[in-house]
Amino acid sequence: MNFLAIETSCDETSCAIVDNHGHILAHIIRSQIDDHKKYAGVVPELAARKHLEICDYLVMNALQDAHCDKNDITAICATAGPGLIGSLLIGLMVGQAFSHAWKKPFYAINHIEAHALSPTLNETIVFPYLLLLVSGGHSEFIYVDDVGRYYQLGKTIDDAAGEAFDKAAKLLKLPYPGGPHIEQAAKNGNPNAYQLARPMIYKQGCDLSFSGLKSDLRRHILQHQQPLSDMMRDDFAASFQQAITDTIIARCKNALTMTPTPVKQIVVAGGVGANNYIKNGLIELCYRNNLTFYAPPPILCTDNAAMIAWAAHMRFKKNLPLGFHHARPRWPLEEMNNI
Ligand code: KG4
Ligand code: ZN
Repeated sequence: MNFLAIETSCDETSCAIVDNHGHILAHIIRSQIDDHKKYAGVVPELAARKHLEICDYLVMNALQDAHCDKNDITAICATAGPGLIGSLLIGLMVGQAFSHAWKKPFYAINHIEAHALSPTLNETIVFPYLLLLVSGGHSEFIYVDDVGRYYQLGKTIDDAAGEAFDKAAKLLKLPYPGGPHIEQAAKNGNPNAYQLARPMIYKQGCDLSFSGLKSDLRRHILQHQQPLSDMMRDDFAASFQQAITDTIIARCKNALTMTPTPVKQIVVAGGVGANNYIKNGLIELCYRNNLTFYAPPPILCTDNAAMIAWAAHMRFKKNLPLGFHHARPRWPLEEMNNI
């Protein structure tokens, strides 16, 4: 069974073909970063137009890459939310057009559910596990009990972790998207050079907050002569990354005490999950608590269509409802428990 999936929830246009064993037969990801860079963030209208330009070509290219034709495709899937409404509509429309033309079933997939299940695509992971989802749009701790059974333990009350990286990079005059550039600059910096805020770190629960950290970084930067020297910029990057890491680790410790049953594994997903410094902090936390840690390879951490196809396979195997949904800019994961 080969599912062809389309992902267009934000600024990546992606198409993949994945079989029911998790073999990725084709996987194309086209990033729009160069189009959005000059605005230092994703411009929703531009994102939708760019998806429209290439989405149907990617479907044809994916078929070629997988050496198959439409008869080898069992179903078409597309992300229906959450995400940017214009971007979601393009993926859904293109997906449904192929579904009608090829007379294949169409499955609309929740993007967060796809992130939540993505670690199981190329690794044997035992349910339940604690998922830390940290991307440009989301930062949350989810107890993944099974396919279709998710409990959000905590989430950011303001900025997402990736958003914080992007805003910090802007303050440090580093390019968009900020995460990889901050990680790179931090390699040359001293993580203890500046004591930046670690919001919520001593509070109960595992909600996150990053906007205070960003404001604190701005305040510290403005205390110095501009432009910053390279050394100072690197020290700020390292101190910022350290503050985010400390916050995530402290909140993760609390999240572990909040799961309905004890978990044996922590997994991370989302673009910030590509950050090696944060990953090392999580690995250490797992080591101390006798847990295993897993992070999917970066290509499966960031937005991609393979995880959309895989979420559809997982739901299909469990006989869970799959079908049409309108584009939904907000679509809480826990709603998937009730359908
Ligand atoms: O999951 P993703 O590709 O897209 C969504 O937001 O859904 O995540 C993108 C975010 C950006 O904010 C980017 O700065 C951040 O992930 N990111 C990183 C790293 N690579 C990407 N943040 C920290 N360190 C990284 N190495
Ligand atoms: Zn995402």
